[in-house]
Amino acid sequence: MSQAFQNIYHQSLADPAGYWEELAGNICWTKPWDQVLDDSQAPFYRWFSGGETNTCWNAIDRHVDDGRGDQLALIWESPITGARRTLTYRELKREVATFAGVLSNHAVTRGDRVVIYMPAVPEAVVAMLACARIGAVHSVVFGGFAAAEVAKRLDDATPKAILTATCGVEPGRIIPYLPILEEAFTLASHVPGTMIVLAREQQSAQLKTGRDHDWHEEMARATPVDWVPVAATDPLYILYTSGTTGKPKGVVRDNGGHAVALMWTMKAVYDVAPGEPWWAASDIGWVVGHSYIVYAPLLHGNPTILFEGKPVGTPDAGVFWRVIEENDVAALFTAPTAIRAIRRDDPEGDFLAAADLSQFRTLFLAGERADPDTIAWAEEKLSRPVVDHWWQTETGWAMAAYCRGIDDLPIRHGSPGRPTPGYAIDILDARGHRLPSDTTGAVCVRLPLPPSSLPTLWNNDEGFVSSYLEEYPGYYSTGDAGMYDSDGYLYIMGRTDDVMNVAGHRLSTGAMEEVLATLPDVAECAVIGAADELRGQVPVGLLVLKATSTTPHDEIVGDAVRRVRNDVGAVANFRKAVIVPRLPKTRSGKILRRSMRQIADGEAVPMPATIEDPATLDEIRDALATIGYPAGN
Ligand code: COA
Ligand code: AMP
Repeated sequence: MSQAFQNIYHQSLADPAGYWEELAGNICWTKPWDQVLDDSQAPFYRWFSGGETNTCWNAIDRHVDDGRGDQLALIWESPITGARRTLTYRELKREVATFAGVLSNHAVTRGDRVVIYMPAVPEAVVAMLACARIGAVHSVVFGGFAAAEVAKRLDDATPKAILTATCGVEPGRIIPYLPILEEAFTLASHVPGTMIVLAREQQSAQLKTGRDHDWHEEMARATPVDWVPVAATDPLYILYTSGTTGKPKGVVRDNGGHAVALMWTMKAVYDVAPGEPWWAASDIGWVVGHSYIVYAPLLHGNPTILFEGKPVGTPDAGVFWRVIEENDVAALFTAPTAIRAIRRDDPEGDFLAAADLSQFRTLFLAGERADPDTIAWAEEKLSRPVVDHWWQTETGWAMAAYCRGIDDLPIRHGSPGRPTPGYAIDILDARGHRLPSDTTGAVCVRLPLPPSSLPTLWNNDEGFVSSYLEEYPGYYSTGDAGMYDSDGYLYIMGRTDDVMNVAGHRLSTGAMEEVLATLPDVAECAVIGAADELRGQVPVGLLVLKATSTTPHDEIVGDAVRRVRNDVGAVANFRKAVIVPRLPKTRSGKILRRSMRQIADGEAVPMPATIEDPATLDEIRDALATIGYPAGN
């Protein structure tokens, strides 16, 4: 590791306020902060308290004022619909300011929440930035979630308005959004009074008078509005993420700290210069989309690509390389699953070899474990560094990385690098003691967390403490298990809780169990995340039936699959379930999901000391074998 990086890293921990204060100079403020790091309400830390700024101003207007107005800001590539559209910073400013006018016309003001349920279209990015412009708090809900999941988020965020489109487009099918929202409105206790609908040519829709408004008509009627100063500590957005239970956690992001940290990462972590085209192939419904499709690249003055399509099948496994070639992309950030899918369809890398990638420097991977085999394949075919890094919705940017702009740490396959500036990461045992290298434990970050990390959960300070801070006092618990090697490289081995990672999407086993538990024949159930060659993990349901059940088992399983798809969403990838006589439990009644996952993955299963009846593990082994687990046996 370079001495320069070591100095930066140590300074960031020895004097966090000094470190981040210097970087705050890269952002425009209307009022300077009173305190860089406000610990007066610890463990609720606030960055740049007393300061005022506006994220939209920093992401758009300031670049226009600085002469970047005619540079591309947003490039929409939609191979799934055959469309493409570009907006310069000036054009983006006009569109965002006008849509901010639309929101103002509907009495949306500072602090109001706005739910965005939209596909990856430019208007979705415009909507996010327009909220930021007027100080409204957006909450984007991923388009692959079903009505019940939307309803949970409506009830928690209580938005004044909801922004949507007539449909999303998936390979081979159109997904009409309005019926999903109508169903969500019947399930939710809170229904927003205003809905603005973007009509897409693939799907028309009947709007309801009073509540519903047509996007384009509203835009034609509105006049552009200017940005308003907001407190650095005001929420910019809420993004719901999966936790252990079926109730999603509303991660809050502030304005000031977020802008300071994210802008800095574009150079420090990703080593791109302002003006260079950048692409994060994710969806705006996930944190990668928030941070690296929208906010970080725009704050840093990069053209950013918004992609509506898949790495394969839209139309083929060459689409990523063609988009890179056509837009002179300097760096791509995607999930390992996407590369696995491309490799599966194009194992020799023929599409890749046919593209001119002369401007392309680096492939970044995150969102799930990057298996060394996939990294090695991509490195060989691309002849460029393939760089893993590790983070989560809660932090908004990398906790561990190879900081390509300020560090020259050699890449080690299987490791996402070392802790980034601001993150003091320890590996702890169950009693909170630090573990030596090469020993796996809970990955925890010493408080305070650096800027952009969640200050709390939406309307749920207590949940913030109990979810993240209580188990290891003085630390933020990431929910991941991992270890350091003797050279200080970090390794992330998986979750310590019941969260799953399916095709780079974070999902809750609890949400699926809630649905399965409502099936009339099911007495008890569990969902585990089993290893999957393409998607990393996929959910598998284990169902215990009521003694009175007479329904044929395949009917029950079919019903279970349909219900999870309908109630959680297709994105859950819930395709397999099996009937079991009992679930393995501890003597205190806790379901031993981890042991069942180990059986499904063909791992050694240490006998839990507290297991009530060891024979239950054999029953699970037999049942899982009937649906092909462990895979390859
Ligand atoms: N709206 C509605 N449905 C959606 C959706 C959306 N936004 N996104 C996914 N789905 C559906 C898919 O159509 C699919 O439906 P199906 O069961 O009828 O086939 C289902 O949810 C599962 O989706 P997915 O796991 O994404 O499978 P896929 O076959 O469509 O694509 C990959 C497989 C690997 C190509 C895809 O998962 C991928 O690109 N992964 C990268 C993940 C990523 O970018 N993560 C973001 C974090 S960095
Ligand atoms: P999300 O909040 O959706 O970004 O998911 C975060 C979780 O994904 C982390 O807590 C990890 O479990 C997992 N994850 C993200 N990036 C990596 C990585 N590079 N290696 C291993 N796991 C990762």
